[in-house]
Amino acid sequence: MYTEKVMDHFMHPRNVGEIEDASGVGTVGNAKCGDIMRIYLDIDENQVVRDAKFKTFGCGAAIATSSMATEMIIGKTVQQALEVTNKAVMEALGGLPPVKVHCSLLAEQAVHAALWDYAQKNHLTIEGLKPPVGDVDELEHEEEEEA
Ligand code: FES
Repeated sequence: MYTEKVMDHFMHPRNVGEIEDASGVGTVGNAKCGDIMRIYLDIDENQVVRDAKFKTFGCGAAIATSSMATEMIIGKTVQQALEVTNKAVMEALGGLPPVKVHCSLLAEQAVHAALWDYAQKNHLTIEGLKPPVGDVDELEHEEEEEA
């Protein structure tokens, strides 16, 4: 059902963890499956992604796609990172079963949310970048306030 590459990135995910004082952090969730993904980006003064890390509370495909997505955006400019689509990530993994396509979308959205956060913090505009759809940060804060 899964390609060898998917299994490899699931069993040995790259770039797991957090980045302290990250340039941008994006957290997104999928309402249907309840999975959550957070991406941290370290971006240098030339707008190049120096490092990327992720934390995924989700399925194996979500872990494999976040692992591959972080690998693919490291060393790229923010503009190039924005162009790394979920389709490109899936292709790099040798494909995903149709029911798992949404998991790769989560990785794309998390990268976009982190780029958005970076752009907001630095008062920048990244051409073609839209506000994150599934950013769950606000939701988390609401919950914290209620608690
Ligand atoms: Fe939810 Fe994969 S089943 S991200």
